[in-house]
Amino acid sequence: MKQINGRERKAYLSLLYYAVIVVLPVFLLGCYLYNEKQLRIGQFQELKTHNLQEHISPPQQSKEDKDKKTDLVSLEVCDVFTGEWVLDNITHPLYKEDECEFLSEWVACTRNGRPDSKYQKWRWQPRDCSLPRFDGKLLLEKLRGKKLMFVGDSIHYNQWQSMVCMVQSIIPSGKKTLKHTAQMSMFNIEEYNATIATYWAPFLVESNADPPENRDGKTDPVIMPQSISKHGENWKDADYLVFNTYIWWTRHSKIKVLKQESINKGDSKDYDEIEIVYEQVLSTWTNWLEQNINPNQTSIFFSSMSPTHIRSSDWGFNEGNKCEKETEPILNMSRPIDVGTDRRLYEIAVNVTKSSKMPIHFLNITTMSEYRKDGHTSFYGSRSGKLITPEQKLDPRTFADCYHWCLPGLPDTWNELLSLYIIYKS
Ligand SMILES: *[C@@H]1O[C@H](CO)[C@@H](O)[C@H](O)[C@H]1NC(C)=O
Ligand SMILES: *[C@@H]1O[C@H](CO)[C@@H](O)[C@H](O)[C@H]1NC(C)=O
Ligand SMILES: *[C@@H]1O[C@H](CO)[C@@H](O)[C@H](O)[C@H]1NC(C)=O
Ligand SMILES: *[C@@H]1O[C@H](CO)[C@@H](O)[C@H](O)[C@H]1NC(C)=O
Ligand SMILES: *[C@@H]1O[C@H](CO)[C@@H](O)[C@H](O)[C@H]1NC(C)=O
Ligand SMILES: *[C@@H]1O[C@H](CO)[C@@H](O)[C@H](O)[C@H]1NC(C)=O
Repeated sequence: MKQINGRERKAYLSLLYYAVIVVLPVFLLGCYLYNEKQLRIGQFQELKTHNLQEHISPPQQSKEDKDKKTDLVSLEVCDVFTGEWVLDNITHPLYKEDECEFLSEWVACTRNGRPDSKYQKWRWQPRDCSLPRFDGKLLLEKLRGKKLMFVGDSIHYNQWQSMVCMVQSIIPSGKKTLKHTAQMSMFNIEEYNATIATYWAPFLVESNADPPENRDGKTDPVIMPQSISKHGENWKDADYLVFNTYIWWTRHSKIKVLKQESINKGDSKDYDEIEIVYEQVLSTWTNWLEQNINPNQTSIFFSSMSPTHIRSSDWGFNEGNKCEKETEPILNMSRPIDVGTDRRLYEIAVNVTKSSKMPIHFLNITTMSEYRKDGHTSFYGSRSGKLITPEQKLDPRTFADCYHWCLPGLPDTWNELLSLYIIYKS
């Protein structure tokens, strides 16, 4: 048998390398694209976000390998969170309200009498690339034997419901179940042995807003900035953890903190500035992650602030009060807008997630959502079966909900983006 000399071996190795690193992925990609005829390879290559880049870069190579692989290295990087809203009633909504048996009355706006439906038909178009069409089967395939968990406040509950509705139609009835405990709601998909759960912890750390009876926000919050492990115990077995914490921080400029271990002891309460405590809480959280989560097994995400629309003058409409008269997004995206999102908290979240030793994907949904003044439940949410009465509609300041979002609607887009990470990057 012919001896392979050094030179040939090198050529052989680089051929092999080429085959594994370049040809195989392109082949697999081709298989996928074959099903998604509307996509071209170029579009897929553009589908990388800044945050994803670390994962898509080829492994460390020698210099000569590097020279050969320039086409791979020069994959275009696309920030999927920068773009615009495009009306597209062909691809959206991703599901119909009455086809999702798991959608609660709370955000089922059409069922609750919302007359317009355009808000369901906007597709997010990133500036530098196109998103593949959402494929629930592909997502569930990735979630096989795994657990995806949203942790945080009611906005994440909102997003969890969206995710459940986005995938549930694939599963025949009887093979999917919903379970609720005091802190957690779990959607189980038997066929895939997959769980999509949501865990209530509006401040991430322990607070008096944790028990169900205090979730209406009528009691002033008291939080324990150092206490996270009691909640954290319930997060450890998840494969994908998506955190948020924002709206509960926006009501006061100071917050009551309790440094003791037990919320019931009631002593040593202090009021502290929101930003200071927010930063402390996020450090408690990243420290917990670093000590308890293996990044090789679990992917961590942080959803940036979900904006509110509570002053119509913010977008130059002086007749309305809040978001109650809105049926269209803000479409002129070249005009910067300020709908009152707390940018200090936003910046803290950016900084903390960036500097953490645990890799954390920052889901930068704030700006894109700020344009969606049309997407809130407004008068068409429902609380324990109670709809807003005609008399209450005369008082939008009190009764219009410009925090939460109708489904189908904006949170579906957040989930489309989250799915990209889950499908392509893990
Ligand atoms: C988030 O997206 C907005 C809108 O494109 C952009 O201006 C901002 O820089 C992004 N922030 C981060 C931290 O990526
Ligand atoms: C979609 O929009 C087009 C143009 O705006 C309209 O003609 C068509 O009837 C709409 N289709 C549906 C299913 O709503
Ligand atoms: C189902 O998934 C869990 C992890 O979420 C795993 O521990 C278990 O072994 C799986 N069961 C089967 C039957 O695959
Ligand atoms: C994660 O994987 C890397 C590379 O395989 C390994 O070096 C590291 O020790 C792993 N980390 C943990 C916490 O298991
Ligand atoms: C969009 O906003 C910019 C900046 O305020 C303005 O110059 C432009 O005329 C607006 N475009 C439209 C179509 O209203
Ligand atoms: C975030 O980090 C930047 C750069 O390190 C710093 O200039 C800025 O003050 C930080 N912002 C906050 C709110 O901590």
